[in-house]
Amino acid sequence: MNMRKNVLSAVIGTALTVGFSASAFAATTFKLSHNHNRDHAVHKAMTEMAKEVRELTDGEVRIRIYPDAQLGTQRESMELMQNGALDMVKTNAAELEAFSSDYSAFNLPYLFRDQQHYFNVKEGPVGEQILASSRDSGFIGLTYYEAGARSFYTSKPIINPEDLDGMKIRVQPSPTAINMVKSLGGSPTPLAYGELYTALQQGVVDAAENNIPSFSLSRHSEVSKYFSLDEHTMVPDVLVISTKSFDALSKENQAALKTAAMNSMQLMKQLWADSEQQERAKAEKMGVKFVTPNKPAFVEAVQPMYADLAKSNPELSALVEEIKAVQ
Ligand code: GCU
Repeated sequence: MNMRKNVLSAVIGTALTVGFSASAFAATTFKLSHNHNRDHAVHKAMTEMAKEVRELTDGEVRIRIYPDAQLGTQRESMELMQNGALDMVKTNAAELEAFSSDYSAFNLPYLFRDQQHYFNVKEGPVGEQILASSRDSGFIGLTYYEAGARSFYTSKPIINPEDLDGMKIRVQPSPTAINMVKSLGGSPTPLAYGELYTALQQGVVDAAENNIPSFSLSRHSEVSKYFSLDEHTMVPDVLVISTKSFDALSKENQAALKTAAMNSMQLMKQLWADSEQQERAKAEKMGVKFVTPNKPAFVEAVQPMYADLAKSNPELSALVEEIKAVQ
């Protein structure tokens, strides 16, 4: 893996040097990595953002998007960004928990009352405060992207938490996601997204959890025929940028980038709603059954997580209270 990372860094480094010396015009081209394919709504939203920022800055700021984890897994991309080999990463709050603990709030199950509460948190002062919280780790968040609710999928219907007993369940490398699966009786197995299709197919894990578009577009729907709509978390995608890259821009170009990012966040809401519908229909055509679980039982099973948090992490617990107080 390190070898691959070194090769990637070298390639990215060379591309930057060539690009720089070949043009006298002071355009900045940012490299943005993410792990979804071109059909995913978030790729489309970010493509619009790249167009808009180029227009708003008269071509001075350009963004080149590398989809499909071409430049490494989400974690590798974050590390490349911290090393200065990449400028931007579209990641999500679960991955970011390891870099800035404030993001763990988004990974707590059944925290948001409904979608409007979730939008108000992300788009209000608390959301902005969390985006700024990682500055000491060498990056900041520019915006969130809607990523719906996450639910469990496997080869049998999950109706009650007991149905997860002893199952090996793939989670993202997020301590909160790991605790959640343990609270529900499953055995959490952290894995990179790109490794999950094979892991499900070969029985390395028994189940996984994600939103509907990611489930369908990653073709996990070929191997997991039951999607149980327990909707345990609403984990937003997050667009982050290295502070080195951001701080090097003029104030006007920083503002243009933020504007384009915020506009693409609004656009994403519509793209997401359409994509959720389309991908659900596609999965159903492939024989996937969407089942309605006993949600109150899931809500109850995770309540001890909140009591534990109040004891073990008062700071995070205070942030959770702030989130709950948002109208
Ligand atoms: C979502 C999210 C990705 C993340 C993935 C995962 O699809 O958009 O950023 O990597 O979940 O479960 O790993």
